[in-house]
Amino acid sequence: MAFVTRQLLRSMSSASDPATAAAKKIAIKQVTVIGGGLMGAGIAQVAAATGHTVVLVDQAEDILKKSRKGIEDSLKRVAKKMFADKPEASSQFVEKTLKNLTVSTDAASVVHSSDLVVEAIVENLNVKNELFNRLDKFAPEHTIFASNTSSLPITQIANSTSRQDRFGGLHFFNPVPMMKLVEVIKTPMTSQKTFDSLIDFSKALGKNPVSCQDTPGFIVNRLLVPYMLEAVRLYEKGHALKEDIDVAMKLGAGYPMGPFELLDYVGLDTCKYIIDGWHDAEPGNPLFAPSPLLDKLVEEKKFGKKTGEGFYKYK
Ligand code: CAA
Ligand code: NAD
Repeated sequence: MAFVTRQLLRSMSSASDPATAAAKKIAIKQVTVIGGGLMGAGIAQVAAATGHTVVLVDQAEDILKKSRKGIEDSLKRVAKKMFADKPEASSQFVEKTLKNLTVSTDAASVVHSSDLVVEAIVENLNVKNELFNRLDKFAPEHTIFASNTSSLPITQIANSTSRQDRFGGLHFFNPVPMMKLVEVIKTPMTSQKTFDSLIDFSKALGKNPVSCQDTPGFIVNRLLVPYMLEAVRLYEKGHALKEDIDVAMKLGAGYPMGPFELLDYVGLDTCKYIIDGWHDAEPGNPLFAPSPLLDKLVEEKKFGKKTGEGFYKYK
């Protein structure tokens, strides 16, 4: 069984005949990103910075204004590192990237010219399905749809469309400009051409793609989310201070952030959606048990860094 899985994963990560596969792949040049929050803004930024024409979509102009400002600030940080003592090259890079990026509040009217639509909206199956079902009617035949979901089955999202063969998972990591990994998810219906195109797109963004079956949490979150929730349970039981747990995992395990810092960074609302969804699917699994403290913070709208308070307070 393990051998079969290994073979399947191997076949997923490389096309059998590169020359034939290359001819079949879709060259992704025009990208629509839906959702201008933490993740969507980051995905739009790296796509624009690597020469793609990008439209970023969200529900309101004021949200998009904030997304654009966040992208500009992040680009300046990237440029400062890339062009350390070349201020002119640095500002040219920022300007050029911003030229590749436009914003819109009307997804249906912009997808007509897209090779790829990447969705990064709220972690809710019904809302994602409603969006994709609507866009399916407006996007051209060749357009690939991809979801950046952290925890939902890609197959169930793809089923809201009539293009299951042109649908895959494209799971980025926060902060997108810094994190090198993309998990590319192939459902049983995803065509090899779609999968290869998503792998190529990830590489074109300068990322390192890995493949995974359509299993809850894929690779990273299946390990990371139970770990973060276990840290909350340790704290809830009074076994250690959250500050000490964070220091312990940074200095004792070499993690760049402690679990509470990371929960706040990811967003407590998103973490709650993830764990609640898995708990509903497998109520008896202790790894997926909800946390009363996490629930309370989300109830109080303390979503972490993005709202100024979560486990910690932010300026
Ligand atoms: N944009 C651009 N550049 C950035 C950046 C951003 N958002 N964040 C950091 N940088 C760069 C900058 O060059 C920055 O230097 P300046 O402050 O001078 O601009 C440099 O990185 C150092 O940043 P920091 O001093 O803020 O902090 P750091 O050294 O700790 O690095 C970090 C920040 C990269 C976020 C690091 O702490 C880290 O890797 N943390 C773990 C993140 C992680 O685990 N992400 C995965 C979350 S799970 C997920 O995403 C999946 C899911 O579905 C929930
Ligand atoms: P976020 O709350 O920062 O942003 C979500 C954005 O989507 C908001 O700006 C919201 O206005 C917008 N939105 C909601 N419904 C919409 C709709 N119907 N049409 C257009 N825009 C809509 O959330 P996020 O952290 O960026 O997460 C987005 C997705 O990415 C989720 O599926 C999440 O699970 C996944 N994800 C999150 C992280 C993370 O660390 N936060 C990492 C990887 C994947």
